[in-house]
Amino acid sequence: MPKLTGNERLIEIIKNKIKQKGDISFRDFMDMALYYPELGYYTSDKSKIGEKGDFFTASELDEAFGALLAKQFAEIFEKLNTDNFKIVEIGAGKGYLAYDILNNLKKNYPKVYENSEYILIEKSPYHIKAQKQLLKDFQNTKWVQDIIDFEDESIEGVIFSNELFDAFPVYLIRKKNNQIWEVFLTLDEEENIIEVEKPARKEILEYLKELNINILEGMTTEVNLDAKDYIQLIGKKLKKGYVITIDYGYPSAELYKYYRMKGTLLCYHKHRYSENYWENVGYQDITSHVNFSALKHYGEKVGLKTIAFTDQAHFLTSLGLMDIFAELQEKGDWQSYERLNRLKTLVLPKGMGEKFKVLIQTKNIDNPKIKGIEILPPQTDRYKL
Ligand SMILES: C[S@@+](CC[C@H](N)C(=O)[O-])C[C@H]1O[C@@H](n2cnc3c(N)ncnc32)[C@H](O)[C@@H]1O
Repeated sequence: MPKLTGNERLIEIIKNKIKQKGDISFRDFMDMALYYPELGYYTSDKSKIGEKGDFFTASELDEAFGALLAKQFAEIFEKLNTDNFKIVEIGAGKGYLAYDILNNLKKNYPKVYENSEYILIEKSPYHIKAQKQLLKDFQNTKWVQDIIDFEDESIEGVIFSNELFDAFPVYLIRKKNNQIWEVFLTLDEEENIIEVEKPARKEILEYLKELNINILEGMTTEVNLDAKDYIQLIGKKLKKGYVITIDYGYPSAELYKYYRMKGTLLCYHKHRYSENYWENVGYQDITSHVNFSALKHYGEKVGLKTIAFTDQAHFLTSLGLMDIFAELQEKGDWQSYERLNRLKTLVLPKGMGEKFKVLIQTKNIDNPKIKGIEILPPQTDRYKL
């Protein structure tokens, strides 16, 4: 196995931790690589999202994404009819999506803009700084350090995220000799990193059992216990409203298919991807696909009702993306033509359209139907949670 490369200070800290303890769980390695104070990928000052970073997100692509979400939130605002309406965005990155949503609410839905609060929860100090700078001219914006800072059942409105859960540290597991093992990392005499397997911890086995997941012999895959805990926190904090989760991933039945024997863990560095998590430590993103069956299951345990599991293409089309296409086509100038091309990425199956899913859960809502789920994808196995 290879040597760790990347941020030397962070590598020293990780190596010391391994030496102290003998080994560390892959999950703890990933947590340090992404979130170690000041040195982790998300906690450092380095540019991450966009052309100068390592990957693109829909938030950066075009303002239409935020405009359509604003339209959806305005409908939910009317439905909830409360004086205490909150839009809570978790893991808002550089804040572009918040900017487009707030801008659209202000322009097209002033009643919603005036009577709601936009709350951002973000773990990366680098991103918080960028968000505060970008959103400084909007009223009613607020930053909350952690979702646990809300009282239980205190949020009325929408709690949403775009590409949050895929950025959580995950346990790596492997099935060998008909047993589930957890991957730990240790060092050999030359300080090369080596994977060692230990019988999987109780929480992993419980998770697999509860979700009825049977992985194949020889398969290595991920278990995102942080996502399980987080959706339960969201469910507990919500009093009444919607949880909208946009991310790449699948239901269990699809996630653990035979053609994903190596799981879904990927690293992004300067718009290239690899499976080499030991490289560019602190300088590259590490992600995995979200298990939406788990979000549904653990959400239900805290009172969240799943009302739809759709994809970005159907969600945005239901909200009126085609009208935006038509407007741009009619304008016919080169800027509109460029926007049209960018927007296609949001809906084309090979772009973000099918890869990105949208999970919609509610709490204490009687008639939950909303515009974004008017047109749904064919209910194949890829959409059965
Ligand atoms: C892949 S980025 C997505 C950013 C943004 N939503 C976008 O679409 O461009 C993930 C973001 O989630 C943040 N994050 C990860 N875990 C978090 C947590 N537990 N609470 C709040 N933010 C978190 C990261 O710091 C990062 O800003």
